[in-house]
Amino acid sequence: MRKLLSFFSIILLLSGCAEESKKQEQTSASITSPNGNLEVHFQLDNNGKPFYLVKKNNTTVIDTSYLGLKFKNHPALIQNFKIAEVTTAEADETWEQPWGEQRVIRDHHKQLHLHLEETTDKPRKLNIIFKVFNDGVGFRYDIPQQEYLKGDLVISDEVTQFKLTNDHKSWWIPADYDSYEYTYSETKLSEIDAQKAGYAQRHDRNITNFHAVNTPITMETEDGFYVSIHEANLTDYAGMTLGVTKNNTLSTELVPWENGDKVRTQAPFVSPWRSIMINDEAKDLVTNYLILNLNEPNKLKNTAYAKPMKYTGIWWEMHLGKSTWGRKDAEGNYTTHGATTENALSYIDFNKKYDIEGLLIEGWNTGWEYWGAQDTIGFFDFITPYDDFDIKKVVNTAKENGIEIIGHHETSGDANNYENRLEKAYQYYEDLGIHAIKTGYAGGLVPKGEFHHGQYMVRHHQKVIETAAKHQLAIDAHEPIKATGLRRTYPNFMTREGVRGMEFNGWADENPPSHTTILPFTRILGGPVDYTPGIFQIDLAEYRDGQAIQSTLANQLALYVILYSPMQMAADLPENYNKYEDAFQFIEEVAVDWETTKVIDAKIGDHITIARKQRDSDNWFVGSVTDEEARNIEISFDFLDENANYKARIYRDAADADFEKNPSAYTIEEMEVNSTTVYKANLARGGGVAISILKQ
Ligand code: NOJ
Ligand code: CA
Repeated sequence: MRKLLSFFSIILLLSGCAEESKKQEQTSASITSPNGNLEVHFQLDNNGKPFYLVKKNNTTVIDTSYLGLKFKNHPALIQNFKIAEVTTAEADETWEQPWGEQRVIRDHHKQLHLHLEETTDKPRKLNIIFKVFNDGVGFRYDIPQQEYLKGDLVISDEVTQFKLTNDHKSWWIPADYDSYEYTYSETKLSEIDAQKAGYAQRHDRNITNFHAVNTPITMETEDGFYVSIHEANLTDYAGMTLGVTKNNTLSTELVPWENGDKVRTQAPFVSPWRSIMINDEAKDLVTNYLILNLNEPNKLKNTAYAKPMKYTGIWWEMHLGKSTWGRKDAEGNYTTHGATTENALSYIDFNKKYDIEGLLIEGWNTGWEYWGAQDTIGFFDFITPYDDFDIKKVVNTAKENGIEIIGHHETSGDANNYENRLEKAYQYYEDLGIHAIKTGYAGGLVPKGEFHHGQYMVRHHQKVIETAAKHQLAIDAHEPIKATGLRRTYPNFMTREGVRGMEFNGWADENPPSHTTILPFTRILGGPVDYTPGIFQIDLAEYRDGQAIQSTLANQLALYVILYSPMQMAADLPENYNKYEDAFQFIEEVAVDWETTKVIDAKIGDHITIARKQRDSDNWFVGSVTDEEARNIEISFDFLDENANYKARIYRDAADADFEKNPSAYTIEEMEVNSTTVYKANLARGGGVAISILKQ
């Protein structure tokens, strides 16, 4: 990745030159953020147990929290340590994302590297590295190669704690080892209870500890800080969930392998970074790039094929039950198959008319008859089209019209089968000239007993992303491993689900209006989300009795700005878009790749307003959404260039719009605006506003 500024400074402040006697006495070390506001204090207690604290402006944010690892086949690395060496460093560099919500990102941090050694006969070593930024902290374990920790190592427990200072208000989803597809709860830490919150169990789900969460978990502290805990660079390790233990402490609970092992490894190895974002205002969490900065630079030489784009899909019609993924049903009867050549060609016409680059086609390949059947495995081969789908004709017609087909691989959770067929399946798409694939893992995992978020699947997704890069394929993963910023290292891992997305609105309890006002502060802090916005036919009664999306049409448009993804779906059916052509113009014009992002105003769970500047353009796009309450929001356009004129096209709720009573009532107006304009937006209940600001 191109380095914009080359001043990368490493200052070694303390090294092995300190006197031997002094070194042995040292039991603590501290470091502050570059601006001095955040402080990490590390210490060994009387038993040589390591712990840390984090303070912001001298106020404790993380209190005495212990660190360490336990092993199945070795004594734990948790006590009897001395500090053998401490080194510190500072780095300040800027780097550029090939695509993203912010083109140039500054990585300015100080580092504290602790070299711990046991005081036993056969001393083992444990390094802990802290990176302290102005707006957060990352730390990781670094286990070096060493004499007394050789061979296979099985981590049975990571004992990392995050002791909060109070019973904070928090936004969370349960610690389901298999799924992130939940609406968020807002409760105190002590009230985290998956059962009470009504999170239903499904056969392909697994919540073992009701008092635990999947990350990011985001909190508002009594001192007025916003804190979000997550992890970065999850590579060859187990996903981290956090259990609520006594004294407002969140304790790491790693997702296990089938036999209970947590991580299978060998020294040397590093853990993922444990990340703590700390901001004064909720809105600043959204533009906190800690997670990306804790990941390694781009390892791919060519990323040109990983192109941001909008896409339509043969998709929503299956979720509505209008057509099917399979050519036949489980009994062998023909069904209304969605992915026919004819249907695909009509979508291509639609895309061409409205200049939408991508077209996802689900259900094109054989095997869907068995999807969901218990104990049937290996039925997708990923290379055999149904007999009513001429894949070459579809791909070639798309190409002639400048449209990219997005391939689809539903694995049904049978990751083992997918791995075995991966190389061939990717070669097949590469030969066809396809550059992006949506993957999916909807179903209980195979190998049986493994979880979607354990080390098995972390390894699986790594294999997928590396194989995809070899074949110049970008990935949009559904039922994915959680987002931990790996897109920096592998920019072909463009987007993913890992969210209770639009699909639920088609066939389950609908997402409440507040859902999309929480996602930017929780799930999306990990990375881009394939939520699949843009449903214009809000009332779904003609497809499913009583089913209706809990938003207005203007709110659906605002989601293109609010829910960041470099691949952004126009999810509704062409026939529904044709009914609202003037509103569809926003989806046509909205950008998917950004120079910069500014959050104008937000209250988690209530409302959020974001402005983003299109990359390589002077145009801006604004989105604002509210929960079930109507709101008047003032949007200052002071982010615009001074002394320049712009034309704003405003897609807003009509005066009588209401997500329950009148969701499709919208008004479009145009006005001249400049950097002194303050636009007063009236958002309906469950409403929103979407604004294109085009430089004149
Ligand atoms: C679940 C995915 O989230 C959805 O987008 C997809 O259509 C189905 N699985 C079928 O693959
Ligand atoms: Ca899903």
